[in-house]
Amino acid sequence: MVPRIPRAALLTLSFGAAIVRGQLVGTYQTETHPKLPFQSCTKSGGCTNVGDGQIVLDANWRWIHHKDSATNCYTGNTWDTSVCPDGKTCAANCAVDGADYSGNYGISVAGDALTLKFVTNNSNGKNIGSRVYLMNSDSEYQLFKVLNKEFTFDVDVSNLPCGLNGALYLSEMDADGGLAKFPSNKAGAKYGTGYCDSQCPKDIKFINGEANVEGWTPSATDPNSGTGNDGTCCNEMDIWEANSISSAFTAHPCTVQGQTICSGAQCNTPTDRYNGLCDPDGCDFNSYRMGNTTFFGPGLIVDTTKKITVVTQFLTSDNTANGNLTEIRRIYVQDGKVIQNSKVNIPGMSAYDSITEDFCTSQKTAVGDPNSFKSKGGMKGIETALRNGMVLALSIWDDQQAQMLWLDSTYPVSSTNPGAVRGSCSTTSGAPTDVESNNANASVTYSNIKIGDIGSTFGKTDTSTKSTSTAGNPPVSTPYSRSSTFSPPASTPYPPVSTPSAPSCAVRPKRR
Ligand SMILES: *[C@@H]1O[C@H](CO)[C@@H](O)[C@H](O)[C@H]1NC(C)=O
Ligand SMILES: *[C@@H]1O[C@H](CO)[C@@H](O)[C@H](O)[C@H]1NC(C)=O
Ligand SMILES: *[C@@H]1O[C@H](CO)[C@@H](O)[C@H](O)[C@H]1NC(C)=O
Ligand SMILES: *[C@@H]1O[C@H](CO)[C@@H](O)[C@H](O)[C@H]1NC(C)=O
Repeated sequence: MVPRIPRAALLTLSFGAAIVRGQLVGTYQTETHPKLPFQSCTKSGGCTNVGDGQIVLDANWRWIHHKDSATNCYTGNTWDTSVCPDGKTCAANCAVDGADYSGNYGISVAGDALTLKFVTNNSNGKNIGSRVYLMNSDSEYQLFKVLNKEFTFDVDVSNLPCGLNGALYLSEMDADGGLAKFPSNKAGAKYGTGYCDSQCPKDIKFINGEANVEGWTPSATDPNSGTGNDGTCCNEMDIWEANSISSAFTAHPCTVQGQTICSGAQCNTPTDRYNGLCDPDGCDFNSYRMGNTTFFGPGLIVDTTKKITVVTQFLTSDNTANGNLTEIRRIYVQDGKVIQNSKVNIPGMSAYDSITEDFCTSQKTAVGDPNSFKSKGGMKGIETALRNGMVLALSIWDDQQAQMLWLDSTYPVSSTNPGAVRGSCSTTSGAPTDVESNNANASVTYSNIKIGDIGSTFGKTDTSTKSTSTAGNPPVSTPYSRSSTFSPPASTPYPPVSTPSAPSCAVRPKRR
């Protein structure tokens, strides 16, 4: 008896059989990466385009179906255990398919500008959030090596309210998405595989070429997500996590180099936050949190109602790419005006204005957080990843765990410690059910992405880059009693200064 395969699927198969690249890549939807040019700059030569710039949607958002039919392998937040009894079998039975970027996911490019919409209605329901990676060809991610360089982009956060996060960051993924290391992964970077970050996310459906089906537990709150036994860790440099109210840049080192699978306590579990492979908190610089509440926001010095140019410099001890990473420095440019980063103004800290090892140590003490940044490698740890090269991720997301309060509100919500207030959003804001219905039309636009020599990517005048720092200077603010913050880690939950860990929706394209 002939297996009952839908007619349309049969047609597709007979037509597609010759061009199937591997059993893990589906062919219902052609994968066409939206082109997104980006540039490399030198002081002497100006800026030129790098490779064949384009973006790719992360694999987690994609339709996963039986390799020989349009039947789902994964629906909502559960696996079909008949084809996915274990990770290996599932990987051999299931295919990840192409993406309809604008129609299903609300992802569009115009010139050098990428817009990610928050909620996108489509023929299958709706998609929530997205994460894409920058590529220099159809099959490889660009590896950014930013030591002794600056990374610059423009961003429009005006349409990102409380509770949302438009993130642009570097993760130490493999350039080919793990294709070479894990032969059972036939999809690779072309289909957005190989994600990892410093939260060691366990909601990733395929890790190291195998499905994460063992121990898979559907999320209690997110109908599109769950977690398996395994997570995927790597060094992460958050160049930008922001909405129209608050922004932060954050370094998250790991004790491992490169994308690394984890299980159990290695994955920074919620009940054992600091015993994993990576630093889940990171060392962050958020101007509001560091005491300047009038610097970044609507109508403020860095005015979030308008496009902002964001420059991030990775300065080294000897001004070469071989030197030690000493400082991560932020500069803004808006309306042709160069705006230096705000200076720290909280009790117990000097007027730092950049991320340095001293800033991080001082901040952890002043706010009463454990220094997991240091214990997972500190500046040296993140330096190694920045030297090896990292992949650029761009995303928009809402936060199932902590409502993004760690970015834009007071967190922990009842804390009165220095550093607890991170933005002016209400402590009741940011619930996914709320923002997904009331701010569905939110979006972020990233444009004009550049990497180059220090001082080559913006303006004409500003070359003053080295910190005039502050490290070691006496506190500018009134000395205060820090006794209450010297205590060992409080039992309150620590801020997940984090990156997207919960892709909320894998939309499956309409069945044909
Ligand atoms: C905030 O930053 C601006 C610009 O650097 C500065 O003029 C202002 O004094 C700062 N405010 C505080 C409270 O530090
Ligand atoms: C980098 O730091 C190491 C110690 O961690 C030191 O031995 C080395 O000389 C430094 N290199 C440069 C270029 O500063
Ligand atoms: C999606 O459709 C619903 C009705 O089904 C509507 O209320 C909502 O505004 C739409 N959202 C967007 C972002 O278009
Ligand atoms: C979102 O925008 C669409 C089209 O611009 C509109 O139809 C819809 O009502 C909007 N939804 C919300 C919740 O604002």
